[in-house]
Amino acid sequence: MTTTLIKNGTLITADQTLEADILLEEGKITLIGPDLAREGAKIVDAAGKYILPGGIDPHVHLDLAMFDTVSSDDHYTGHKAAAFGGTTTVMDFVEDKDPDLLKNVKALREKAAPKAVIDYSFHINITKFDDRVADQIPDLIQAGVTTLKVFTAYNNRLRLQDGEIFQLMLIAAEQGLLTMLHAENGDVIDILVDEALRAGHTEPIWHAYTRPAWGAVEAVLRGAALAAQADAPLYVVHMNTAGGIDQLAYAREQGLKVMGETCPQYLFFTEEHLKRTDGAKWICSPPMRTELDNKRIWQGLVDNTLQTVGTDHCPFFYDGKKAILYEGKEVLIPGKELGQEDFTKIPNGLPGVEDRMPVLWTEGVVKGHLTPNQFVAYTSTNAAKIFGLYPQKGSLSPGSDADIVIWDPEKKLKYGVEVAHQRTDYNLYEGWELQGYPEKVYLRGECIVDGDEWLGKRGQGQFLMRKPHAEVI
Ligand code: URP
Ligand code: ZN
Ligand code: ZN
Repeated sequence: MTTTLIKNGTLITADQTLEADILLEEGKITLIGPDLAREGAKIVDAAGKYILPGGIDPHVHLDLAMFDTVSSDDHYTGHKAAAFGGTTTVMDFVEDKDPDLLKNVKALREKAAPKAVIDYSFHINITKFDDRVADQIPDLIQAGVTTLKVFTAYNNRLRLQDGEIFQLMLIAAEQGLLTMLHAENGDVIDILVDEALRAGHTEPIWHAYTRPAWGAVEAVLRGAALAAQADAPLYVVHMNTAGGIDQLAYAREQGLKVMGETCPQYLFFTEEHLKRTDGAKWICSPPMRTELDNKRIWQGLVDNTLQTVGTDHCPFFYDGKKAILYEGKEVLIPGKELGQEDFTKIPNGLPGVEDRMPVLWTEGVVKGHLTPNQFVAYTSTNAAKIFGLYPQKGSLSPGSDADIVIWDPEKKLKYGVEVAHQRTDYNLYEGWELQGYPEKVYLRGECIVDGDEWLGKRGQGQFLMRKPHAEVI
C-alpha cells in the first residue's frame, strides 16, 4: 500500500477550512497538521489546491435494464467516470425481482464486484409489499442494505399504495432503516399518458406534460405526512419542483425527519430542453420543469433546506444505432432512439455522475452561491451521514478512509463528451466553460486518477456494508 503525504494544500470539510498537510497510510488518513514529514512517503505538493473528501453520489443506476435496453454505464465504466469527476463512492439500487430479497442483493454484488473501481453500496427498491416482504426487511441489515426506495408512480410496476408505504415506514422506523421516496402521482400520470397517446402526441415534451409538477408536490407532502405518522425518517430523491422544496421546508419546520436530494439537471435545465429536436437527451423521471423551479431548488441548497446533490446517473445513448469508441473498442447500446415514434418508449435517464462535482463547483462555488464547505456537505459529507457511512467516508479526519480529491480551483476547461468518460454519446453540459476540476483522486490511499491518466483497476472497489440508525440531518 502506498504512503502519501500531501503537503501545502487547503483542506475543505463540510464545516472547516484549514491549511494543513495530510498523511495517507494503509488506506486511511492517519495525520493532519502543519509541516508533517514521513520517511518513505510519496510527497505530493498541493500548494494552491484544495483537498476535499472524495465525493459520494447516493443515487446512480448502473447496468439497469429499462424498456428494451440497459443503462449504458456498468459498474466499471460508471465507476471510472465517477472517479474522473471526483466521486469515490456511489450508491446503486437493487431491484426486488426475486421474492427472496437477499438473493437480489447477492446477485447485484456478484455482478458489480469484478468490475468495481470505486467503493459502492446498495439501496433496494421495494415495489411489492406483503407479509413475506415485511418479514425480510430486518434481514437486509445483515446484508449492509439499510435504505428502501419506494415509488408513488409507475402504477402496476413499481408503485406501492400509500398504506403499504406506511406499513414499510413503520418497520423501517423500528429497525433504524431509511425510506427513500420517488414522489410523483402515478394515477394522474397514467391518465394523462393515455390521453396524450390517444391524441397522437409522440414528442419528448409530452413526457413532461404527462408528469405534472403538482403530482410531485403533493407526493412529497404525502410522503412527509406518512413519515410523520410512522415517526420514520424519509429521504425524498431527485427533487425537481419549487413546490416540492416548499413542502420539504414545511416538513422540516414542523420538526419532521424528512430530508431531500436534488440533482444538477434540476438546477440547470427546463421543459424547454425537451422541446428541442434532440429533446430525448433530457428525458428523465421526474422531468425538468421551469426556471422558477430551478431558482427555488438553488435556494434550497443556499439555505440548507436540501441535504444532498446526487445525480440519478442513468445514461443511455442518444443514438444507439451508432457505435462509440470506449477504451479503444466499439460499443453500441440501444438508447433514446427507441422512443422516436412514442415518448413513452424513450428510456428514462441521463448521464451525470462525472459532471456533478465540476459543474456544481463552477455554477455554485465560482459564481458565489455556495461556499466550498457547502459544496463538500452536498457532494460528500451529508450523504455519508444520512446513509450510515460517516466518518469512514465523507470526512477528512484521522481514521477515515483516505478517499481524497486534490481539487484545482483554477483549472479551466471546455467540457463535453470528448472530455468526459461516461459511456454514452452525449453530454448535457456540452461546451460549458468550467472552472475547478479534480487534479488527483485517491481511493483508500491509492491514486486512481492523475490528471488525464486512469490508474484504477477493475475489482479494487469495495462493497460498503452500511449501518442502520444513521443520522437524520
Ligand atoms: O429517469 C430516471 N430517473 N431513471 C431512473 C429511475 C428513477 O426513478 O430514479
Ligand atoms: Zn426515482
Ligand atoms: Zn433514480
